[in-house]
Amino acid sequence: GGMLTRGEFVGSLDCGTTSVRFIIFDRYANVVAQHQLEFPQYYPEPGWHDHDPLEILSHAHRCIDETTSLLEAAGWTSDSVRVIGITNQRETTVAWSKGTGEPLCRAIVWDDARTKNTVKHFEHKLETVGIRDSPDYDSTAQRQREGSNGGVWRKGVEALRCITGLPLSTYFSAIKLRWMIDHIPSVTHAHDTDDLQFGTVESWLLYNLTGRAVSVCEVSNASRTLLMNIRTLQWDPALLEFFGLRESILPKIVSTSEVYGCIASGSLKGVPVGGLVGDQQGALVGNRCLRKGEAKCTYGTGAFLLFNTGEEIVESSHGLLSTVAYQAGPNAKPVYALEGSTSVAGSAITWLRDRMKFIKSAKEVNALAASVPSTGGVYFVTAFSGLLAPYWDPGAAGMLIGLSQYTTPAHICRATLEANAFSTRAIIESMKRDSGVQLRHLKVDGGMTNGDLAMSILADLGGFSVVRPEMREATALGSAIMAGAAIRLFGWDLERPETLSEVNTAGSREFMPTMMDGEREEKWTKWQRAVERCKGWDE
Ligand code: G3P
Repeated sequence: GGMLTRGEFVGSLDCGTTSVRFIIFDRYANVVAQHQLEFPQYYPEPGWHDHDPLEILSHAHRCIDETTSLLEAAGWTSDSVRVIGITNQRETTVAWSKGTGEPLCRAIVWDDARTKNTVKHFEHKLETVGIRDSPDYDSTAQRQREGSNGGVWRKGVEALRCITGLPLSTYFSAIKLRWMIDHIPSVTHAHDTDDLQFGTVESWLLYNLTGRAVSVCEVSNASRTLLMNIRTLQWDPALLEFFGLRESILPKIVSTSEVYGCIASGSLKGVPVGGLVGDQQGALVGNRCLRKGEAKCTYGTGAFLLFNTGEEIVESSHGLLSTVAYQAGPNAKPVYALEGSTSVAGSAITWLRDRMKFIKSAKEVNALAASVPSTGGVYFVTAFSGLLAPYWDPGAAGMLIGLSQYTTPAHICRATLEANAFSTRAIIESMKRDSGVQLRHLKVDGGMTNGDLAMSILADLGGFSVVRPEMREATALGSAIMAGAAIRLFGWDLERPETLSEVNTAGSREFMPTMMDGEREEKWTKWQRAVERCKGWDE
């Protein structure tokens, strides 16, 4: 090779549900080099979904090394990467031994629904025993209304939502961790002997990338565990007590943008890690939704709509959840978001490809769906592991309805794209009720948004315009911005969004709804009827 030049770049390790990628960006968010690898998915029983933490890690290492080779092949030294960020699938629960650093079992993935009975148990506990009042969990006003000075027990799922911003669901980490402790002897033993380390995926990755030196959990990830108080941004003793967990399992909560440590080995040895962020919050930043009232929806494995609510925690009464969007540094004020999450979006396309074998590649779904003018009356409720927002029904079952002799794979493919659009509309309806804001444009990103037909269907059935930017690696870009900002690379400062103005936002395509209102509402009504039918199937 010839002489290599030293540049100034930022790397982003994006560990999603089905693949790991590493992307190196320049200051304008141009991609300088990237590599992506899919990793194995385990479905040992219906509704179960596991990952091997060591496989996530080995794929991450390989991606980093491959991308660094590509960078050098393009004429840049590897130390051109000044800092990296990590962004990750959230809620997925990893348990490892403090002593050996080795995983104690497979990770339970966020969309896994095996913990239905654990949820029922805690629902009952909330109704009967309740949860100890936490000193910080409520406003003084509410406390006065109730004439209490703390130390009381509060009952019902609302008590939990008040502290965490979350409903009680199979989705969140504490439930998965409790299941592990109750069912896997090695985890039970480690918990009893204070050898258990709990972590979300970014904790696991950082721990290992730093040579098993740093144990932390980033705040946007911590806000998905059911163990963090959404106001204090600290683990809440009342929650640990409620779930029966020992404090020794918990890493320290850190902000989204700061230097946590340096990479200990491999092609980027010595490079600082300056950003950790949950992938959906990363996409919010990557889409530059840094101001209150801005929203995006990412279509990855699932679909996640996040609405920036600024420094205010908006509590949903229509099935959404409140979450930390990011905290721009250890002393920065947190920014919050209202979120609607569905567990199935791209994963339904994968299912059409791998299980039904209707298509050979994911992108073929658009061509096949376009070969028919309608679904021929088919509706597909893709409740593969119950329903998340806004329904929260772990017993809901996946359902195809309206089948006839006339139905072909093309109709089912089209119904899958429609299912995605209906699920998004359901969330937007809730968001409208909670915030009073009627969304006119929806910014979208993620793999599924590459399909033009999928986007037209979304605009038609949603009744809003869909804005698809040219840059669709919003998740990775968001974490790169977090990492760059931590060392003020390129002058980036998250608390001053204007410092990000160089970051390229050029190019987007807008899909406008063309369907008549009458037809849209008729289909929407039918979809809602379909959802009602599949609820509670698996009681
Ligand atoms: O909450 C789960 C979410 O973080 C997963 O995102 O992009 O892997 O589907 P994705």
